[in-house]
Amino acid sequence: DAAPREDKTDLYSLLEDAASWYERELPRHADAQAYCKKRGLDPETIKRFRIGWAPAGYDGVMKALGNSTRRRDLLDQAGMLASGDRGKYDRFRERLMFPILDRRGRVIAFGGRVVQAAPASGQAPPKYLNSPETPLFHKGRELFALWQVKQANQSLARIVVVEGYMDVIALHQAGLPIAVATLGTATTPDHTEILFRAAPDVVFCFDGDRAGRAAAWKALEAALPRLRDGRQAYFLFLPDGEDPDSLVRKEGKDGFEKRIKEAMPLSDYFFSELSHDVDMGSLDGRARLAERARPLIGKLPDGAFRDLMVQELEKRSGVGANLPASVLHRVAHQP
Ligand code: CTP
Ligand code: MN
Ligand code: MN
Ligand code: MN
Ligand code: MN
Repeated sequence: DAAPREDKTDLYSLLEDAASWYERELPRHADAQAYCKKRGLDPETIKRFRIGWAPAGYDGVMKALGNSTRRRDLLDQAGMLASGDRGKYDRFRERLMFPILDRRGRVIAFGGRVVQAAPASGQAPPKYLNSPETPLFHKGRELFALWQVKQANQSLARIVVVEGYMDVIALHQAGLPIAVATLGTATTPDHTEILFRAAPDVVFCFDGDRAGRAAAWKALEAALPRLRDGRQAYFLFLPDGEDPDSLVRKEGKDGFEKRIKEAMPLSDYFFSELSHDVDMGSLDGRARLAERARPLIGKLPDGAFRDLMVQELEKRSGVGANLPASVLHRVAHQP
């Protein structure tokens, strides 16, 4: 990365200081305490996730940690400041703070949630605010709570991907420390590679709303090029209006675990989604399915899974799964 190594060391230590400072603020603010209670966060959970509080005001972090030009510059590089007409000020204000750790447990960024209800009029602040991309934080490559998952499990049979901070935290607190989240961004191929290195089975579980269903298909597309060596992806669709946080609180650990075990294999989701508006009884419909499926199957690496997906498409559509030219070329030149 662009930042020299010594700068990075200083950035890590500054963000560590910021996380500690937010943690120490949490017990000092009644509104923060009340919100934690309302969301059912146990003291052990607060500690394990290092949840903190960014107080109201524009210079809390700057006063506490930015007491030299160099330190203020580092705060800025670390994404902790915003800039306005009158210069720099704290980016995170009056928010419950979730530190984002890298896979070695170092603080690299933050997410912050508003706790006040949105104002009746005027512009509501975004519910969650995340650190911007910095030399330490690339959100397309980081997963919230991967470190906590690794701490809690010596070996992992499956890992569950959810949408939000509170979803991860609720699942861990309920006794399912196998959940991670992407950070307000679509699942990337980099994410899926990291996930499959952590566990052979990856279960994608997004909210039961329109956004969640769109996110699931994006995740499928990101997973396709990584599906080799017996790796398996599954999709868990929640009832409309529910998210993992709300559901695990209703159904408990066992109920949610049952849903995880019954998640839909990627191949089933693939064909059901691509044929939902297709009349499979007509040649026209089967052609539509084949046209949609081919380029996606072409993203799969060579191997048994792709062979079987090709066969399945042929069985369903009756069309030879002529893959795009680039893929045929690869196949033809195999030893
Ligand atoms: N998100 C974000 N910025 C927003 C809204 C959402 O980055 N303005 C991200 C957050 O990571 C959030 C996730 O998308 O956790 C899912 O959004 P949503 O379902 O709306 O929030 P929840 O996680 O359910 O939040 P909560 O339960 O705290 O209301
Ligand atoms: Mn970089
Ligand atoms: Mn949602
Ligand atoms: Mn929620
Ligand atoms: Mn949600």
